[in-house]
Amino acid sequence: MRSDPIRGRSDRSSLNFRYWAPFLVKKLYIKTYGCQMNVYDSQRMADVLTPLGYEATDGPDDADMMVLNTCHIREKAAEKVYSELGRIRAIKDSRAEDGKETIVAVAGCVAQAEGEEIMRRAPCVDMVVGPQTYHRLPELIARAARETGGVMDLEFPVDPKFDYLPPVSARGFSAFLSIQEGCDKFCTFCVVPYTRGAEYSRPVADVVEEAALLVAGGVREITLLGQNVNAYHGAGPAEKVVGLGTLIRKLDAIDGLSAIRYTTSHPADVDEELIRAHGEVEALMPFLHLPVQSGSDRILGAMNRHHNIDHYRDVIARLKAARPDLKFSTDLIVGFPGETDADFEATMALVKEIGFVQAFSFKYSARPGTPGAVMPNHVPEGVKSERLAALQSTLLEIQVAFNDDCVGRTLPVLLDRAGRHPGQLVGRTPYMQPVHLDAPAVLMGEIVPVTIAAAHRNSLTGVLVDHSAESLAVEGARA
Ligand code: SAH
Ligand code: SF4
Ligand code: F3S
Repeated sequence: MRSDPIRGRSDRSSLNFRYWAPFLVKKLYIKTYGCQMNVYDSQRMADVLTPLGYEATDGPDDADMMVLNTCHIREKAAEKVYSELGRIRAIKDSRAEDGKETIVAVAGCVAQAEGEEIMRRAPCVDMVVGPQTYHRLPELIARAARETGGVMDLEFPVDPKFDYLPPVSARGFSAFLSIQEGCDKFCTFCVVPYTRGAEYSRPVADVVEEAALLVAGGVREITLLGQNVNAYHGAGPAEKVVGLGTLIRKLDAIDGLSAIRYTTSHPADVDEELIRAHGEVEALMPFLHLPVQSGSDRILGAMNRHHNIDHYRDVIARLKAARPDLKFSTDLIVGFPGETDADFEATMALVKEIGFVQAFSFKYSARPGTPGAVMPNHVPEGVKSERLAALQSTLLEIQVAFNDDCVGRTLPVLLDRAGRHPGQLVGRTPYMQPVHLDAPAVLMGEIVPVTIAAAHRNSLTGVLVDHSAESLAVEGARA
């Protein structure tokens, strides 16, 4: 563990005993930025802090401890942290006037990348902890109580955090499960290999145990997470290393687990075993997030993406051959250094060709320490904005057309929350479209056949099929 480099600061008071006394109930507020892995990590931080007497609260005002779980992927994401810390400082000061102490922790990828900078810029921060060390939060809280000044733990430990985390607690009907951490790909635009560290896959038995615990707690749908999730190579039975396709089959054997998803996958790591799983595992949802970033081979090369467009097309074709109802979503970056109008047009052409039913698109953001940041020919901000607007309008057209296309079809819908009006529930289709429908509250948590009656920009309206006929009526259900 690295020792605290900044000590003896006047405005970061030593925290007193009551914050680590395990018998008092204390309020915990966690604000999460960034990807699903951070959402998972935030829940696990709450699991780590529960034995210390912390329970969740919805807002920061009554929180005895506040955690910002941060994202460093783009400049805007990182800057949000500092503006939030300004607000937190005011809350901490006003609580102090009432004699209440507040622990402020910054976790996640900004913490990992800028730990000392955070301590310097935001003296209200008591501790900084990275994505691979948050299992040590109790030790950090104890240290912060003993020592004057902030404490930091930004190590990449040899023993993974998963070996030390308490059992997961199930929340809701749909859950995230991190199975793989870090990334060894080093795309030239991306900070993740630096903030999350090297690739690590959890052993199969660990993943299956955590999934079974979630399902026993009422979870029906699990999304397997990793920054490069299909690079998964976990130790299986008899120490044999297995890939994601095999892991999915093991999870499919858990009774009560109805839907399996995974994200984020890399086109270069889609292997035959995974493609076969798509063809044969009914619970594996026919919706895949497969980031492509650009439609230009030249730009993909400069991005160090490890694949070209022909390879991407081929992967899509093989996946569709295995599961014809499979639809794709993607991530796209416009304005990578050196991107010409022709490169951008190639991206537009690919988007139309594949017909992504959903996509996240971003303007390239130069990240300190990445090779892209020092490449020549950065694209002017105005050009990036124009390209992004054109791309997003095409993406929206495709999304709306797909929503329209769903009208009249009967799809399996996981009902996972109450609607705005009494008697209404909201669920999600296999393609993650929200569906609003009238349904009795007892169906909450069930996957039911729903006939889509109307399509909107970002959601659908549906009618519950008399499901005494159960999944026989569900389109796509195969013998
Ligand atoms: N592991 C995933 C991506 C993780 S980051 C993959 O390999 O695809 C999520 C998305 O953020 C990326 O797919 C990319 O589209 C976007 N992104 C990452 N770094 C970026 C940067 N510097 N500027 C703009 N967008 C970026
Ligand atoms: Fe970043 Fe590339 Fe790794 Fe994805 S594969 S996390 S984009 S370096
Ligand atoms: Fe952001 Fe870190 Fe996730 S940089 S996207 S929170 S891995």
